[in-house]
Amino acid sequence: MFRITEFKVEYRKVPIGLDIDKPRFSWTMTSSKQEVKQQEYRIRVRDQARLVWDSGICQSDVSHLIEYDGSCLEPLKSYQVSLEVSNNYGEKASSLSSFETGLMDYRNMKADWITVNSKGRDEIPIFRKTFKLKSEVAKARIYASALGVYELSLNDNKVGDSYFAPGWTCYHHRIQYQTYDVTEMLKETSKDYKLDITVANGWYKGIFGLESSPNNYGDRVASIAYVRVEYADGGIDEFGTDSSWSCFTGQTVTSEMYLGEHIDKTISETELGKVETYSYPKTVLIAQENEQVKITKRFKAIEKIVTPKGETVLDFGQNLTGFISCVLKQPKGTRITIKHAEVLDKEGNFYTENLRAAKPEDVFICSGEEDVFTPKFTFHGFRYIAIEGLIDAWGMKDFTACALHTDMEETGTFTCSNTKVNRLQQNIEWGQRSNFLDIPTDCPQRDERLGWTGDAQVFARTAAFNFNTALFFTKWLKDLAVEQTRKSGVPYVVPNILGEADAATGWGDAATIIPWTMYLVYGDKRILEHQYESMKNWVEYIHSKAQGPELWQQGFHFGDWVALDKEEGSDRVGATDVYFIASAFYAYSTSLLMETAKVLNKEEDATKYRQLYQRIIADFRDEYITKKGRLVSETQTGCILTLNFDLAEEKDRPRILKALVENLNRHDNHLVTGFLGTPYLCQTLTENGYHQLAGEVFLKEDYPSWLYTVNMGATTMWERWNSINPDRNFDESGMNSFNHYAYGAIGDWMYQKLAGIRLIEPAYKRFMIKPEPIHGITWVDASFTSVYGIIRSKWRFEKNIFSLDIEVPVNTEAEIWLIHSEKPVLVGSGSYHFEFVTGQSI
Ligand code: BGC
Repeated sequence: MFRITEFKVEYRKVPIGLDIDKPRFSWTMTSSKQEVKQQEYRIRVRDQARLVWDSGICQSDVSHLIEYDGSCLEPLKSYQVSLEVSNNYGEKASSLSSFETGLMDYRNMKADWITVNSKGRDEIPIFRKTFKLKSEVAKARIYASALGVYELSLNDNKVGDSYFAPGWTCYHHRIQYQTYDVTEMLKETSKDYKLDITVANGWYKGIFGLESSPNNYGDRVASIAYVRVEYADGGIDEFGTDSSWSCFTGQTVTSEMYLGEHIDKTISETELGKVETYSYPKTVLIAQENEQVKITKRFKAIEKIVTPKGETVLDFGQNLTGFISCVLKQPKGTRITIKHAEVLDKEGNFYTENLRAAKPEDVFICSGEEDVFTPKFTFHGFRYIAIEGLIDAWGMKDFTACALHTDMEETGTFTCSNTKVNRLQQNIEWGQRSNFLDIPTDCPQRDERLGWTGDAQVFARTAAFNFNTALFFTKWLKDLAVEQTRKSGVPYVVPNILGEADAATGWGDAATIIPWTMYLVYGDKRILEHQYESMKNWVEYIHSKAQGPELWQQGFHFGDWVALDKEEGSDRVGATDVYFIASAFYAYSTSLLMETAKVLNKEEDATKYRQLYQRIIADFRDEYITKKGRLVSETQTGCILTLNFDLAEEKDRPRILKALVENLNRHDNHLVTGFLGTPYLCQTLTENGYHQLAGEVFLKEDYPSWLYTVNMGATTMWERWNSINPDRNFDESGMNSFNHYAYGAIGDWMYQKLAGIRLIEPAYKRFMIKPEPIHGITWVDASFTSVYGIIRSKWRFEKNIFSLDIEVPVNTEAEIWLIHSEKPVLVGSGSYHFEFVTGQSI
């Protein structure tokens, strides 16, 4: 059976509200046969009966990101897409899809921004319009956005299932609007309808940032919405936000992301008065670019604890980002406070000191009837809650922890014979779920939750194994480009609410490393095209800092952040010379820019940056590697970066490798690396003939190591190796999050080396399965859903019998490297089983 399994438009199934002139089509196929390749495809796009594009019969085995090339797409229109394919066995398959364009131009948002003058008070306004329908509705859409975060409801029912719309972008330049299909909610022609837009402060006006200051973007919230109803009889009704709307306050009294939400079920609505139109530009409006934030999992408490201090605590068993939803029947006026924490302290008490200025407390006032409390506009990082104020009987089942994050497609699975490694994999995944909340955040719990560029950069490759991050990073990278300046480079955080500062190495390199990673994983050249200027500006920025030799040797840097080999006088910057690191990343970013220029056929730039790269390398060697091949900064991270970024001459590599191995040995084969060295540690060892040592470092269970955190009960990745010390005391730096994903970057090595899933060509059009077993693990079963379909590697190595089961998607080819073999077996699509006896150990 040959069939099309998924047919997507711009990575989405049947999207609406798409504002892309040339949307791209991608599909995956399966077949019961082997070695299947698409021979031909044909795509036709119709606007009802009118054909707007016919690709013609294309002979190609590419089934990913085929660009629309028909007549100009019109706004607010649904287009039907048909796809026909045939394969090398002469079999045919077909599929249908559709997409709907959005406003395409801000002028089609036929509405005004509206706000309310709340006279300095901080209410949460509900903007309201009532309306009637004329006849049977065929199609109804609402296009909406806000300065703040908003929720739409129709007759008190939430529209859609997303949270924190319009998401976080650099608002003064780009604000997303969302498109809602409300056809099904407008089925009763005779009814009176009430459309509410509730707007809370959110990132726009709320308390946010390292200083916990309000009004980061503006001092009043506002909303904009355009409603368009198409009737079955062909008529159209439309209206938008304007001064005729009214404004109320409701039961959501206050809500701040750092401070929680206050919901009072005893109060009734009060009218705040007429709304005012607000002259905020509409030119900044853009369609939703990534997947929205949704509740993706729900947890019931696993234990009720009364702590030594007497706190009533529920344990949900998983550290996560989200909020508690509860159903309670308590006497009228009962005030319930729900506090949130990631950990209990050594004594078993509720611990919130690491949250710094954040005070994540949701307050619920009961009506006396059965109340359902679910916050709308706040989120917390927590595993435990402490509940105060309950009077009448209640049970653990009344409370549900809702995990929220950007709803990306899950693409990776990894399990193996070691249950602690399996927990680590889950922790990496939860680090990602918890911190991919519309933007890549450093942490979800304390007074921070910012888009730190360095954290995102080190984790991007692993992230793209576990979830499809193409749209997530497409959106965020556009903000990065907007926030970047020639003068100060790439800001520390994107969106930047920290103000102007000079850029830092390893952080600003998000500008080059992430687009390149996205290109490799998804084969998406458009990301490179969009980001090219930004990538170039980043390299040019560093170049402007190079005075004399082509090295970056000035300014402040975070360096090998929170490494255990500390720089003198700092408890945060690792011991590796920061200018050495800066110059190493300068070389690496320049090499990625040079590769990008080649991919985009920019010959002149490719030559220019190749020459620049050669100068950097030459100056790096002069400055940091002695004539006899000794590295000046012989830390673990120093050696790792030099080897991994290929900065040393061939003749000098053995000595540097030796220095790395000796350094590890001195630490009883434990790592001491920070944010910038850790991601490449095991990879560098594996690629330089020390795979078993990589395995040993990886499987260490005592401090400091990945599995040490698992042994200490971690359910997410920690910010520091010593977030909890072996004596169970917390690190007391004031910077101690239990949900930071950076050290989860080891996931890349687990997929690429332990499971052996490695790309050869972008988008995994051609890839390798090359498992590299280590002592202590007898089997691995991993899969990765590439844009061509599922790649699977499942191996077992026991009693000298090695077996391997693999899956190769249609349209791709794989090199299978069986252990101890000199050359690969080449296969096309299909499932394969290999099994043999080997006399050799691993
Ligand atoms: C964040 C980090 C970030 C760092 C920069 C911290 O406060 O939590 O993850 O990269 O600052 O130094």
